[in-house]
Amino acid sequence: MTVLELLGSMGKVTPGDLIPILQEVQNQYGYLPQGVLLEISEHTIIPASRIYGVATFYEQFHLEPRGKHIIKCCRGTACHVRGGSTLIKDIKNELGIDEGETTEDLQFTFETVACLGTCALAPVMMVDDKYYGKMDAKKVKTLIAELRSAVKETA
Ligand code: FES
Repeated sequence: MTVLELLGSMGKVTPGDLIPILQEVQNQYGYLPQGVLLEISEHTIIPASRIYGVATFYEQFHLEPRGKHIIKCCRGTACHVRGGSTLIKDIKNELGIDEGETTEDLQFTFETVACLGTCALAPVMMVDDKYYGKMDAKKVKTLIAELRSAVKETA
């Protein structure tokens, strides 16, 4: 669905429609491309500054492309005392990216979060919606290698 089709399907677009519009764009592209945001502004009464304000205010929106897999690692206290900071370094080393970055092949985005809510399994990481507890460098290496080989099989 193009931006014009999306806007056309919504009838009279008002600033109150902005969040559902941005959600739909992000569903289609995986993020909010700058050109699409400008196009929305051109075809509605919503100024680009307002669109960018909303897009940057809410954590659910992303202005850069994201990886096929989202890897999250806990930086909370329970995980920290059980080697969480080392785990974060291990993941960064395996992926070759820093926190908040996406690999060049767009397969992985790496983020850290305050607590994943499964402190008993510390140190904990997540890949998409799956938890991996009591992690260490060896397990991280194996997990990421498995994810990479699964990517190659589906390519
Ligand atoms: S502190 Fe890591 S899951 Fe809660």
